[in-house]
Amino acid sequence: MSLGQKLTEFLSRIQSLMQGGGKQAVQKQQAQGKLTARDRVAAICDPGSFHEYDLFVEHRCQDFGMDQKKLPGDGVVTGTGTVQGHPVCMFAQDFTVAGGSLGLAHARKITKIMDHAMKMGVPLIGINDSGGARIQEGVNSLAGYGEIFYRNTLASGVIPQISVILGPCAGGAVYSPALTDFVFVVDRISKMFITGPEVIKTVLGEEISMEDLGGARVQAEISGNAHFFATSEQECVEQIKRLVTFIPWNNRKRSDPFPSKPPRPGRDIDAIVPEDPRKPYDIRDVVRAVCDDSDFFEIQEFWARNLVIGFARLDGQTIGVVGNQPAYLAGVLDVDASDKAARFVRFCDAFNIPLVSFVDLPGYLPGVDQEHAGVIRHGAKILYAYSEATVPKITVILRKAYGGGYIAMCSRHLGADFVCAWPTAEIAVMGPEGAANIIFRKEITEARDPDAMRRLKIKEYQDKFANPYIAARDGHIDAVIQPDETRDFLMHAIHVSAAKTETRPARKHGIPPF
Ligand code: HXC
Repeated sequence: MSLGQKLTEFLSRIQSLMQGGGKQAVQKQQAQGKLTARDRVAAICDPGSFHEYDLFVEHRCQDFGMDQKKLPGDGVVTGTGTVQGHPVCMFAQDFTVAGGSLGLAHARKITKIMDHAMKMGVPLIGINDSGGARIQEGVNSLAGYGEIFYRNTLASGVIPQISVILGPCAGGAVYSPALTDFVFVVDRISKMFITGPEVIKTVLGEEISMEDLGGARVQAEISGNAHFFATSEQECVEQIKRLVTFIPWNNRKRSDPFPSKPPRPGRDIDAIVPEDPRKPYDIRDVVRAVCDDSDFFEIQEFWARNLVIGFARLDGQTIGVVGNQPAYLAGVLDVDASDKAARFVRFCDAFNIPLVSFVDLPGYLPGVDQEHAGVIRHGAKILYAYSEATVPKITVILRKAYGGGYIAMCSRHLGADFVCAWPTAEIAVMGPEGAANIIFRKEITEARDPDAMRRLKIKEYQDKFANPYIAARDGHIDAVIQPDETRDFLMHAIHVSAAKTETRPARKHGIPPF
């Protein structure tokens, strides 16, 4: 073969492989408002930076007519690129090729790029658009997913793992993302379930749409499986690019510093928290009033809204923010909020991101529903996660810090390095009303005017305990500060703790209340 013929053969092979499942399948994909796997990779990566590998890989399956089927690239695109200048390893499942289903060769391409990400110490971005384990390949496809889950687990806390759900994803195509750090979904495009509606109909005789079973809104608002919700693939791409700027390449590095910027003007921190402790406000206003450029990148915005988590910067350094949200259920801690906080705290701790906690909560949510849902076990996760974390931990108590909630929200007792409180802080075992009703029950019931006596006793309790000064007297908090001193307090604490080291007893690993 002449050089010219070799080149022509090469180009025709490439052209055919790059078409994925063929024109018709690609048109079907696009008609659903979905990009193709290669378009997705190109949209996320810096222009021209993506290098694809293993394009020529083929499956070896002979069963169920598979010997007659050519599956270009075995239905997955893998490679390396850069995102906002950060090197990344990526894979994107191609739904136009056998529904992006995962056979052994497909799995081997993914595990190879995962191994690469671990060796290079760079984030892994996986775009999932797959019907899960390829049914025709039987145990080989299950083996493939098993090997992916194993690597997801080994990579956990070593490199950031980002999953993007961009199609109907079933079985392994959702369990692998569940093992990763961040899951992105897009309205009407993303669907996540362990088995699809067909199987549910066969097994349970129930009819349900993919959207109602596990659409993007379900995952972002109800299940909490998704961390970021977008209304289009383009918006999702922007969110991924933004996330990458906040996190480090791996657990040995720190996030890239940015130029320090003051909060945007017009955010008067003194005016955010109402005087009446029962009145709600939005904790995100406080975060935006103290962080650089008032730029708060919220995570799991629509799930467990009584607690807010996300990334921000202080003096150019990434911080992880955890805050009770008084605007929703008074900011109480419940099963979901505990899970949300605990997982985020562990991510920040693994990736050297200092934690800043904003406290204003009446405590853990009482009641039969929560008890039966396991609030003891789930609530313990937050205690565990904060206690275990050795990154700098800074806590600001704004208003209520009652009972277990006070302890759980990164109190000094769980190892906070710096704790400050505003003069409006109330640190007590419970709210003054509840406290007075219990400890002064006899005086109140026996009084000539029980209501007046109750008011008197509530005030007595409030004057004694509903302030930050007892905690300050006993050294549980380091400083009482004015709200407008908060940014300065936090920046200083971040600087002082830049070289913080803290060791823990040697052990194989702890046993968190999963
Ligand atoms: C082989 C598959 C496939 C699969 C889809 N396809 N899923 N091929 N193995 N798992 C193929 C279809 O046969 C079809 O091929 C093409 O992909 C597109 O699929 P459609 O059904 O036409 O698309 P749609 O109507 O959009 O439905 C998508 C779907 C559905 C919801 C994903 O295909 C589905 O329910 N698939 C099975 C899902 C499932 O139960 N997977 C679990 C696997 S178990 P043609 O040739 O017609 O275009 C698993 C174990 C992991 O993953 C372990 C977890 C712990």
